Amino acid sequence: MAISAPAPKDEAKPFLSDIQTLREKARQHLAEGAITPAYAGDIEKTIQILQTVLATEIVCVLRYTMHSISATGLSSESVKKEFSKHAKEEMGHVYAVAERINQLGGQPNFNPEGLAMRSASQYAEGVNLVDQIRENLIAERIAVEHYRELIRYFGNDDTTTRVMLESILNVEEEHANDMHDLLVAHEGRPMLEH
Ligand SMILES: [Fe+2]
Ligand SMILES: [Fe+2]
Repeated sequence: MAISAPAPKDEAKPFLSDIQTLREKARQHLAEGAITPAYAGDIEKTIQILQTVLATEIVCVLRYTMHSISATGLSSESVKKEFSKHAKEEMGHVYAVAERINQLGGQPNFNPEGLAMRSASQYAEGVNLVDQIRENLIAERIAVEHYRELIRYFGNDDTTTRVMLESILNVEEEHANDMHDLLVAHEGRPMLEH
């Protein structure tokens, strides 16, 4: 029986520091908090991107909250409940993103001035129930597209930010799906064809 050649070394395997090196590195640059030398991202740019995400989430909280209170018409009660649930989930995203900005050494921007400009999604009041559902679906689709791009952008350079955005994206996709289903239920047809 022929002796099989040893398996080729996986050249792509990332380098692992030994524990002693990790301990020594951790003692340096303590002022940088959670940012350690292995952080491969551009911190300033990451914070700047996350300020946009934060603004997007705040605008989503405001829009869903407003809709949850002002929605009128037949069967609006169940839709109001859905809007309200989404508003709370968007608030959870606000906290997660703001915490991450803080971890990176930035100051989360909650300034109402310029908020709509910083946000990717828009604050649309909607003239009736169907219009409100449609506006939320559009906003969710903007968020989904934006976060997908950001997840690709962060890749392995900032895994914590990427994983956070992945979990947010997961919820935004559910939100978009909920809004799509509500739109179909209230209009009898999807407004946004694939
Ligand atoms: Fe969100
Ligand atoms: Fe959402």
